[in-house]
Amino acid sequence: MAKLGLNIDHIATVRQARGGMEPDPVAAAAIGEMAGAEGITIHLREDRRHIQDRDLEILRKTVKTRLNLEMAATQEMIRIAIAIKPEQVTLVPEKRQELTTEGGLDVVVNAVMITEAVKSLKDAGIVVSLFVDPNHEQVNTSKEVNADYIEIHTGAYAEAFCTGKVQHELEHIEASIKLARNIGLGVNAGHGLNYFNIQAIAALGGIEEYNIGHSIISRAMLVGLDRAVSDMVKLLKN
Ligand code: PXP
Repeated sequence: MAKLGLNIDHIATVRQARGGMEPDPVAAAAIGEMAGAEGITIHLREDRRHIQDRDLEILRKTVKTRLNLEMAATQEMIRIAIAIKPEQVTLVPEKRQELTTEGGLDVVVNAVMITEAVKSLKDAGIVVSLFVDPNHEQVNTSKEVNADYIEIHTGAYAEAFCTGKVQHELEHIEASIKLARNIGLGVNAGHGLNYFNIQAIAALGGIEEYNIGHSIISRAMLVGLDRAVSDMVKLLKN
């Protein structure tokens, strides 16, 4: 049964807008877990625009499900991850100017650097996932660099959904799920998923965890986090 990994970055975005203490991502994680999230995801960015080191340190002690740390494969982040030991690290590309993560990690071009990062993290007992576009070369190379999981970047699918022309994107995603599972990689998915576009992806099967943030936190502002999380969990479980 697919799991929801609740991404709480944008709770921190609202807090950072005033630089104070509220809302606290630590409280959001606890409410999210009580409402059915089976993992908590945070992205510690180099520029610390939302999640702070303090959040990661406290969440490591309070998350009761699984903590998934999204991060760039930099020396600084690898050092932090090894010290904190989240259950899983998802390596993502990171550009300073972007509004959110744009595009998947290019595992093919960066294979040597990613192999080293994967090894350091796995030696510390951390499960490693690579955020990649649904593309055969990226999936095959993810296996070669010894990752445990891929997280399929669903951004292109989410954009196509708005135009109604999703078939092509769904086929890419389905083929990547099959390939990844055949070669022994676990499969997660995320980016741009919401209450309207999740069903068609969930119907493909084969995805263990969905990392979803913006749509849930947006709904939470109107109806509360508990309901926003349980609404999404219902869609994933049905
Ligand atoms: N997965 C990864 C790797 C991401 O970088 C993000 C965005 O932080 C998400 C999932 C969640 O995307 P969204 O906020 O669009 O649900």
